[in-house]
Amino acid sequence: MNYEPLLRLFKDRLGEYISGESMSQELGVSRTAIWKQIRKLEAAGYHFEASRRLGYRLVSVPDNLAIDQLTSRLDTSAFGKTIHYLETVESTQNLARAAAEEGAAEGTLFLAEQQLNGRGRMGRNWVSPRGKGVWMSMVLRPSVPIHFAPQLTLMTAVALCRSLKRITSLPIGIKWPNDLLIEGKKISGILLESAAEDERLRYVIAGIGISVNLEEQDYPEELLEKATSLRISAGRKWLREDVIADFLKEWEQLYFLYQEQGFGPIITLWEALSVSLGKPARLITPQGDMMGIPIGLDESGAIRIQLSDGTVKPVFSAEMGEPL
Ligand code: BTN
Repeated sequence: MNYEPLLRLFKDRLGEYISGESMSQELGVSRTAIWKQIRKLEAAGYHFEASRRLGYRLVSVPDNLAIDQLTSRLDTSAFGKTIHYLETVESTQNLARAAAEEGAAEGTLFLAEQQLNGRGRMGRNWVSPRGKGVWMSMVLRPSVPIHFAPQLTLMTAVALCRSLKRITSLPIGIKWPNDLLIEGKKISGILLESAAEDERLRYVIAGIGISVNLEEQDYPEELLEKATSLRISAGRKWLREDVIADFLKEWEQLYFLYQEQGFGPIITLWEALSVSLGKPARLITPQGDMMGIPIGLDESGAIRIQLSDGTVKPVFSAEMGEPL
């Protein structure tokens, strides 16, 4: 049974204790059922005070995304025009993909408070705790050949970096290809999954994870030295609605620019924000590791690596690490 009627009861009598007996009478369900629903509400972020004599009192509600406020702040023509907002999902990528297969329009957005199985690049998990971040996937339908997909990833990283820098004034930079870092620690991730036919992209699902208000205890121990959030870095919380609205505007503008003028302007913007260029790096590629200095992007979106003999080699897909 869903907990909405019980929640309504608590919200109507905010600040008051309500006894188990009266809840069960008013809703016509057993006291055990009421108790189970209270447990579910607690798991969803609601906090109660319990008194043996008086019953339960709602003391705080979760910090949910206000979709109406987001929509009223949104200044885009396609991105986020349709928003599907969900409490808990496995991964927003799956929902967006299913919608794209059903013909969802470009810009259709899936936003969740929590992902149970958030996916990262290279088959990794993506930590997506309830109410603390922006976990979203959007349908794109670019009219470009499939081998241009990496350019879309780089364009998205540029948009996200520009937007987050503007909002927070934090020193955010891009590590190739699309990780955003603050002082070497990752604050967001971008995962583009595409479907193609006859060498053309049918659609792209652009998944964006932004660690907005996570606290140290939200990360597994082993991630703490590699990951941070806007809140940890800035020492204050941020309104997720502002972050999403600003990013969608920047992203749409760059996407239109990219469709009109190609990848050239994105290269310039990406290079200006990059923290990878000019520093010796180790690239872990499917063909093996290689050492070199990243010196820029090429027209296809590959990173140009200068090797020790002076030659320059484009690398399309790799993990970039510190040199050993
Ligand atoms: C990365 O590994 O850097 C990419 C992480 C992408 C995470 C986002 S969160 C929203 C969307 N849903 C997912 O399951 N993954 C992406």
